Amino acid sequence: MARLAALFCLATIGYTLAFNGDSFELECPDECDCHYFRINWVTDCSESNLTEVPYDELSMSVYILDLNGNNITTLKPFPKDIKMRRLQIANNRLTKITKEALMGLEYLIDVDLSGNNISFIDPEALLDSRGLLNVELQDNPLSTVEGPFLVSGTLQYLDISYCKLTSINLQFFDNITSLTTVDLSNNPLTTLVSGVFDVLTSLDTLKLNDCKLTTVPDNVFSTLANLKNLELAGNQLDNTNWPELLGSLTRLEYLNLRKTGLTAVSEDTFSNCTNLVSLILADNELRDLDVAATLGSSVDHLELLDLSNCKIQGPISGDAFANATRLKSLYLSGNPLFAPDLEEALAPLPKLERLFMSKCGLRRLPDNFNVFDNLVELDISHNPLVNVFAKLLAPLEKLEYLNMGYSNLSYLAPDSFYNLTSLKRLVLSGNDLLSLEAGLFGNLTQLTTIELEFCGLKRPLNANSFFKNLTYMDLREIRLGGNPLVIPASGPVFPKSLSHVTILDLSNCNITKLNSDAFKNTNNITDLNLAGNKLSSKDDSLRFLERLEHLEKINLSSNNLTTIDPEVFVNNPKLHSLNLIGNPFICDCKIAEMWDWANMIKGDLDVLIGAKSAEKDIVVKGNKKKKNLYCRYNETQLRNMTITTNRTVPGRRPFIKPRELTYANRTWAKYVRESGCEPVVKILRPIALVGEMFDVNGRLPTGALVLTVVALCLGITTLVMTLRLFRRKNNTEVDTETNRKQR
Ligand SMILES: *[C@@H]1O[C@H](CO)[C@@H](O)[C@H](O)[C@H]1NC(C)=O
Ligand SMILES: *[C@@H]1O[C@H](CO)[C@@H](O)[C@H](O)[C@H]1NC(C)=O
Ligand SMILES: *[C@@H]1O[C@H](CO)[C@@H](O)[C@H](O)[C@H]1NC(C)=O
Ligand SMILES: *[C@@H]1O[C@H](CO)[C@@H](O)[C@H](O)[C@H]1NC(C)=O
Ligand SMILES: *[C@@H]1O[C@H](CO)[C@@H](O)[C@H](O)[C@H]1NC(C)=O
Ligand SMILES: *[C@@H]1O[C@H](CO)[C@@H](O)[C@H](O)[C@H]1NC(C)=O
Ligand SMILES: *[C@@H]1O[C@H](CO)[C@@H](O)[C@H](O)[C@H]1NC(C)=O
Ligand SMILES: *[C@@H]1O[C@H](CO)[C@@H](O)[C@H](O)[C@H]1NC(C)=O
Ligand SMILES: *[C@@H]1O[C@H](CO)[C@@H](O)[C@H](O)[C@H]1NC(C)=O
Ligand SMILES: *[C@@H]1O[C@H](CO)[C@@H](O)[C@H](O)[C@H]1NC(C)=O
Ligand SMILES: *[C@@H]1O[C@H](CO)[C@@H](O)[C@H](O)[C@H]1NC(C)=O
Ligand SMILES: *[C@@H]1O[C@H](CO)[C@@H](O)[C@H](O)[C@H]1NC(C)=O
Repeated sequence: MARLAALFCLATIGYTLAFNGDSFELECPDECDCHYFRINWVTDCSESNLTEVPYDELSMSVYILDLNGNNITTLKPFPKDIKMRRLQIANNRLTKITKEALMGLEYLIDVDLSGNNISFIDPEALLDSRGLLNVELQDNPLSTVEGPFLVSGTLQYLDISYCKLTSINLQFFDNITSLTTVDLSNNPLTTLVSGVFDVLTSLDTLKLNDCKLTTVPDNVFSTLANLKNLELAGNQLDNTNWPELLGSLTRLEYLNLRKTGLTAVSEDTFSNCTNLVSLILADNELRDLDVAATLGSSVDHLELLDLSNCKIQGPISGDAFANATRLKSLYLSGNPLFAPDLEEALAPLPKLERLFMSKCGLRRLPDNFNVFDNLVELDISHNPLVNVFAKLLAPLEKLEYLNMGYSNLSYLAPDSFYNLTSLKRLVLSGNDLLSLEAGLFGNLTQLTTIELEFCGLKRPLNANSFFKNLTYMDLREIRLGGNPLVIPASGPVFPKSLSHVTILDLSNCNITKLNSDAFKNTNNITDLNLAGNKLSSKDDSLRFLERLEHLEKINLSSNNLTTIDPEVFVNNPKLHSLNLIGNPFICDCKIAEMWDWANMIKGDLDVLIGAKSAEKDIVVKGNKKKKNLYCRYNETQLRNMTITTNRTVPGRRPFIKPRELTYANRTWAKYVRESGCEPVVKILRPIALVGEMFDVNGRLPTGALVLTVVALCLGITTLVMTLRLFRRKNNTEVDTETNRKQR
């Protein structure tokens, strides 16, 4: 009887937990995975081989519908009362958007139709969506638009890049005048019609990169008084009347003219852009650059100047930067530079904080670094530096970031960094160092990050490259990816002096096995990257986890794991992110155990990266191609497989309709649902033990006992529910906050 009560208890609590903090499951199409994201019902049907939208299985309360990466060709009207806020149908095979297709979607805020084959979109397609803010249409072969493109009084963000548009007509923007951001990049426009942007008086950001523009009317931006960011990169604009074109953009802060065919820039080019903070002139042939003459008085606020790859022939005139004294960041990468020229040209820039001279063919460095009292970041990577220059860096006592990656260094003298005592981040990646001198990093007591990727290192870090008698209190991050490390068969991999390390990257290091003491001296690790190694599921290959009590994040993607047991994480209570994508998992009930472990023990399926859609899969902008967790049926299994339908297991949604199994690759989500694997009793054992205790000791009257236990369970259940409801209430606030930020 007591056992029965305990079982009931178990079941009730199990169910409560199974709902994962969300009051009730809403409707969800069979092919899809649904869950709450904060308080919003997400219906994730992405990459599910769908050929049409499962209209009649959708919940009317669906908030986010993700249909990305399917084979949908046409849209029919959605159900009338649907309250959808975000619709994602990127990377399908839609060819047109008719007026009916999106009719009646009154609540719609964001729509993503990128990566389809859409040639036509009805201007009134989104007329009913009165709160519309974002439309993504990039990467569609739109045909020429006659008249207004869309009608929406609220639309703010429009991405129509990569749409094969050859022209923009004068009425194009007439009925979307609230736009603040327009991306027209990568359309072969060749020219712009005078007046085309005149109605966009709220515009803040305009992107016209790579539009094959050759001529631009002088007055095309003349009404854009609020424009702050303008990108014109990758157009051949050498015949442009710049002073006229930019004359009215007095609020402009960021101007990108990368690769625009500029050969010279006259004195008055930017004279009305007195608020310019960042100017990108990279990839232009500015052979005889005279920045002083060019920027004239418009340099008053200029803090960032990018002159990368400008074929500056040198010698750079001594006063090239004479009037740009506010400059904080200077990019000179990719120009063939000589140390003596730099010594003179850079002298007037004592305020400089960041200097980038990557790929400059420098064999030695300018020897006047002593003028840069404020230099915090220095990038001299990808230069054929000879080894003896350490002395030149010595005056940079404030330097916090030094990048000397890929610089042909094969040997670093032990005193190379003796005086760089402020250094926080040191990058030496891509040098064939093979081994490191004793005491090389000894003085770097402020160091927080060291990057030694692709250095041909066999030993992780020579025990004596840091002083043994010190503990490097601030050294938190070590990156050793891409070294062919030989891990000792026993004993720790890192010395005690590095015991404060919390972030360790050992990705792509040819590791087949890590002994169980591997991280004995560095057991404060919170973030461990072991992606791209060859760890397998045999021989206790994950025993090293036992020592990592503080572990929060581990990346085991692209290894050779075929199965994994949640028990290996028993000593990592803080673990909240586990990446297992790209392993050759076999579909077996261990997968269901991992699922239950994440869902019920960790209380959050998000712990398993790739199990369900993450925030980045459902935000506006960016590439939403998702990576999933997969397993594979073996041939025998596949032949004998019958899919279980209508089987109710706590925390898992059953398949309703019978299904046919035609391929062996399954997402974990699908496998867990169709497998019918038992929920893991083992995981719930602590509670089960309570039940047994009663049986052994309890000669109490069973009836009373049963009632007590039942009452207790209901109590606990209510408590859990209440707590979770509270948590959700807090989440609501967070949600609106982030929403507001996003807008
Ligand atoms: C979609 O179908 C293809 C072959 O038809 C198959 O290889 C693939 O695994 C399927 N993808 C999913 C997510 O079911
Ligand atoms: C879409 O259909 C085509 C053939 O019709 C097939 O080759 C392709 O794998 C399908 N893609 C997906 C994602 O189902
Ligand atoms: C579109 O804009 C034009 C010009 O401002 C206006 O005459 C017309 O009424 C608008 N159409 C709609 C449907 O709002
Ligand atoms: C530049 O600014 C001045 C005064 O602020 C103004 O008179 C002039 O018209 C502007 N130039 C252009 C091309 O708009
Ligand atoms: C640079 O500034 C000086 C005074 O600070 C001024 O005399 C000179 O004309 C300026 N040079 C240019 C090219 O604007
Ligand atoms: C480091 O600085 C000290 C004085 O602060 C100086 O004597 C020494 O030569 C410098 N070391 C190197 C390697 O430049
Ligand atoms: C750096 O280390 C060397 C030897 O270990 C020591 O002599 C020197 O004083 C240190 N320099 C600084 C600036 O701490
Ligand atoms: C640590 O050892 C190094 C040489 O290995 C020595 O230069 C340094 O002074 C020692 N520091 C302390 C704090 O003992
Ligand atoms: C990787 O490790 C294997 C042995 O596990 C070894 O044979 C191979 O040479 C290593 N690869 C590299 C690039 O060092
Ligand atoms: C590990 O971290 C804890 C707190 O985060 C700290 O108290 C302890 O000193 C650290 N241990 C080592 C060896 O760094
Ligand atoms: C992966 O593991 C299997 C056995 O678990 C083994 O046969 C295979 O060689 C391993 N592959 C690699 C690349 O280590
Ligand atoms: C395939 O799966 C079945 C059932 O899980 C198992 O008995 C069999 O050993 C597996 N075969 C291979 C080659 O792994």
